[in-house]
Amino acid sequence: MKLPSGGIKLIKKAVIPVAGLGTRFLPATKATPKEMLPIIDKPAIQYIVEEAVDSGLQEVVLITGRGKDSIIDHFDVSGELEYYLENRGKKDLLKLVRDISNLAKIIAVRQKKPLGLGHAVLCAKEVVGEEPFALLLGDDMVDTNPPLTKQMIELFLKHQKAVIALRRVPDDQTHLYGIIEGDEVAEGVFQIREIIEKPKPGTAPTNLAIIGRYILPPQIFTILENLQPDPVSKEIQLTDGLLKLARQKNLYGFVFSGDRYDIGDKFGFVRATVAYALKDPQLGNKLRSFLDEVL
Ligand code: UTP
Repeated sequence: MKLPSGGIKLIKKAVIPVAGLGTRFLPATKATPKEMLPIIDKPAIQYIVEEAVDSGLQEVVLITGRGKDSIIDHFDVSGELEYYLENRGKKDLLKLVRDISNLAKIIAVRQKKPLGLGHAVLCAKEVVGEEPFALLLGDDMVDTNPPLTKQMIELFLKHQKAVIALRRVPDDQTHLYGIIEGDEVAEGVFQIREIIEKPKPGTAPTNLAIIGRYILPPQIFTILENLQPDPVSKEIQLTDGLLKLARQKNLYGFVFSGDRYDIGDKFGFVRATVAYALKDPQLGNKLRSFLDEVL
């Protein structure tokens, strides 16, 4: 994989797919996108857009679907609300609201049918063009310092290989993830040889699971275009595309330190809420006493 020179600025866009149906979180997600569920007082998607911006990416491509317009509205100017807050002299809240619409340049692309994550990524092809890009899943929150996407961009530029985030998971959970097999080329950095999507319990070759952060070259679009959809689900799987990059020796995995929450899963959402509330200066002590009381 040959990249033009140009340093960190080379990667300018973050693609965030948010078109999934969120069936694991019904009925909450019947009319509300799961990405808009709040972790304390901010919708989950805002944390993810902030991670992209804190990693130097100013252009955010949201792959949306039917019923997901509230996500776009959240990052747009809210004239009526701003007028109301201004008139009442609520300067702090006005700033809070304005900062969200100034956070990033948001570009929305519709995925007309939820035909899988690979298909969602392919919807970004025209907007991304011939550049490498970051892919952040809209329901996967990570809490790392520095931001995980920033660490991965640095690795991408150093090794000139696509990079995906990895996490060690307990042996009894490997069947829930894409699991990789590979060779450790530097501490916590693996050259990936094989990816097994949701291996049967007890058959996973490692416990290194793929998490929703990726730095991908534009070649991934051609790869995805030429993939056959899964015969059962009819979905185009991103994992199949990643495996092709791995076969070309073009895929590294990065085992990151920090916390991760799958907020599309009920327990993941509760874990995120508790963890962020415990860190919150106004809520932390109150929650600690409450937990002591109920436990
Ligand atoms: P998930 O598989 O976690 O999302 O996809 P889902 O399909 O909404 O979840 P469940 O299983 O029904 O609860 C990971 C990310 O990819 C997006 C989702 O919105 C989520 O952010 N996605 C998935 C799309 O944008 N399009 C798709 O066709 C599938």
